[in-house]
Amino acid sequence: MNHSLIKLLNKLKSKKKTNFQLSLKKFSKLDKTKIINFAYDLQAGNYIRDWEKKRQAYRSFSEEIIKVINENFGKLSYLLDCGCGELTNTNLLKKGIKNTKVYGLDFSFNRILAGIKYFNLKNKNLNFVCATLKNIPFKDNSFEISVTMHAIEPNNGEEEQIIKELSRVSSRGLVLIEPDYKLADIKQKQRMKKYGYTQKLEKILIKKNFKYKKIPMKNFLSFKNKSSIYIISLNKKKIKCPIMVEPITKKSINLINSNYVYSKTSSLIYPIIEGVPILKKEFAMLLPKNKIKKNVLLK
Ligand SMILES: C[S@@+](CC[C@H](N)C(=O)[O-])C[C@H]1O[C@@H](n2cnc3c(N)ncnc32)[C@H](O)[C@@H]1O
Repeated sequence: MNHSLIKLLNKLKSKKKTNFQLSLKKFSKLDKTKIINFAYDLQAGNYIRDWEKKRQAYRSFSEEIIKVINENFGKLSYLLDCGCGELTNTNLLKKGIKNTKVYGLDFSFNRILAGIKYFNLKNKNLNFVCATLKNIPFKDNSFEISVTMHAIEPNNGEEEQIIKELSRVSSRGLVLIEPDYKLADIKQKQRMKKYGYTQKLEKILIKKNFKYKKIPMKNFLSFKNKSSIYIISLNKKKIKCPIMVEPITKKSINLINSNYVYSKTSSLIYPIIEGVPILKKEFAMLLPKNKIKKNVLLK
């Protein structure tokens, strides 16, 4: 970050009706992923306000998804909610899918934190990690399924890389609830183009020979942005339980204490803030092996 970017972000923060993504595209030189990340950081709290206004719509939306998950996958031990945002839907998934350990991942720390505080989820058998969908810090086949709910949506052009990562960490399948360009009416298509929403998700599933089926959603959180559920079947063997890895080398990490995670193999250390590991490569700090024993942080 530089000074002018911080100034811009703070200026945008106070503007209520601005579309942060379009403004950052216009006024900054950031790459697409950073723009989406900052745009979501700036709007933290919006989804919780929305949830307060339309709880029933959220319940119907998540019940429809839970039904599809139950029917297609049955009993699950571990599920990853990718792009969990402010946990409005993660919390409902957790309550609706019994005996499943739910992990939430999002690159906006601000939003995860808003959700943990609002829903009082600290130490409630939910695990969160701040990381990008393009580089998921878990070992291959850590989860039976990974779910996205409108999280691939803003990553137009990056779908292939994201689906590859989601499939890598999932053994039995993916459940992607994303806007459906094919089924969208003209207005929704125009809106999806304006905001750079994913338009090629299904084409990529076909191109990459994924075995999938699609069910148009009956319930929506916004009628301007209707979605379909893409159920993708994978047939791999799950590892016993999810193993967190260091995002650059994908080597195992060893938890040091409640404030840091450390990978002995790569000598990289990452912060844990409010119980959430920040596993984004720009947060990595080098802690060479020969210094480890002397470091007071290490137990
Ligand atoms: C439209 S919101 C949906 C949030 C949540 N799934 C829900 O249903 O309320 C999209 C979320 O995905 C996250 N996201 C988008 N692109 C991402 C990426 N490349 N890596 C990690 N998170 C991402 C955003 O930060 C945001 O919280």
